[in-house]
Amino acid sequence: MAGALPPVYLDHAATTPTRPEVWRAMAAAEADGFGNPSSPHAAGRAARALVDDARDRLAAVLGADPGGLVFTGGGSDADNLALRGVAAAMGPGHLVVSAVEHEAVLRTAAALEAAGWAVTRVGVDRTGRVDPDRLGAALRPETRLVSIMTANNEIGSIQPLGELVAFVRRRSAALVHTDAVQALGRLPLDVAALDVDLLTLSAHKGYGPKGVGALWVRRGVALVPQCTGGLQERGLRAGTENVTGIVGLGLAAELAEAERPTQAPRQRALADRLVRAVLAGVSGALATGAAGDGRLPGFATFALPGVPADLLVLRLDRAGIQVSAGSACASGASHPSPVLEAIGLPPALGAGALRCTTGRATTAAEVDRAAAAVVAAAAALRGTTADPRPPRRRRGPSPGLSREAPTVRG
Ligand SMILES: Cc1ncc(COP(=O)(O)O)c(C=O)c1O
Repeated sequence: MAGALPPVYLDHAATTPTRPEVWRAMAAAEADGFGNPSSPHAAGRAARALVDDARDRLAAVLGADPGGLVFTGGGSDADNLALRGVAAAMGPGHLVVSAVEHEAVLRTAAALEAAGWAVTRVGVDRTGRVDPDRLGAALRPETRLVSIMTANNEIGSIQPLGELVAFVRRRSAALVHTDAVQALGRLPLDVAALDVDLLTLSAHKGYGPKGVGALWVRRGVALVPQCTGGLQERGLRAGTENVTGIVGLGLAAELAEAERPTQAPRQRALADRLVRAVLAGVSGALATGAAGDGRLPGFATFALPGVPADLLVLRLDRAGIQVSAGSACASGASHPSPVLEAIGLPPALGAGALRCTTGRATTAAEVDRAAAAVVAAAAALRGTTADPRPPRRRRGPSPGLSREAPTVRG
């Protein structure tokens, strides 16, 4: 029983609570900026000013030209615009994606494949990272677009994007898109430093509202709108702007980036603390994804052999601990997660995949409470008592499945 204790929310990769400053700004925008930004009168101009201000704030986070931003209905919408929009502008060709992309990219790639595009899904190593040589082998003269996420939503692995993009630039004229949804507030997102052509963001992963996101598009990149109608967003996405949501996105992104230097090391340390406690308390438990700096701050992900993750999540919820089995974005799916398959996790281990993700308000006490609950719930589901012994060392663990406690920083 959770008793009187408030629940511990460790599912920030699924979504984050909107910050009070953000919803206050949104409430003010709803009241004062109700006009249609396309209207020439004062109410319309007030709404337009709010959209322009949010565009400037978000552009500053990305070190980008505000004119390159297209506001969308979220991360999936932006991913669709990137892939389908480039595909429509360039005609049939070859698309390269990593095997661990979010469904918004993977399913869109599959739809393009059905429409005549050739698609290569580049595999990853056991830590979930794309190797530049594998990417190089996938490139063809007719490759038009490469889409590699900045960091993974299920296991938190950070792609060596700089290296991968440099590799593409040396060998190909293909455009590069990155889905940076999970990286907002966790990694620097300067588009010039990343050297990408298109970048996807979503407000609700960075303490902003759901249903609003953005695609940044480098000047000169041809894109065909996928939602046609009015000429909003430079004609790239029709529909009266979600002024309130856009205000929320601009401010949330600005605040997330401002506190990143303090939050990133703090959350890395919290996640490492959780990993250590779970590995010590659940026999046979493995940490999935990359270790140390190779994974996003705040990500603690596991494979717990013999522990059905769906039952574990329900049991933890009853204990007041809110976590996810694999990716919440793909919840309801009965097939094994493509990400866990891609890192070579055997299905028996994948069935025990647990994702805990901390946030800006998470405390060490909450992490300790969550770890104790995971240990107790795993033992109960295995029909054993919690294992007080230190974990047995496996010989030569593969790098993506580690019993080694990650380095603690900050
Ligand atoms: C990496 C990644 N891309 C895209 C999305 C989709 O974003 P949205 O929920 O805003 O459509 C998510 C959501 O979980 C994600 O984690």
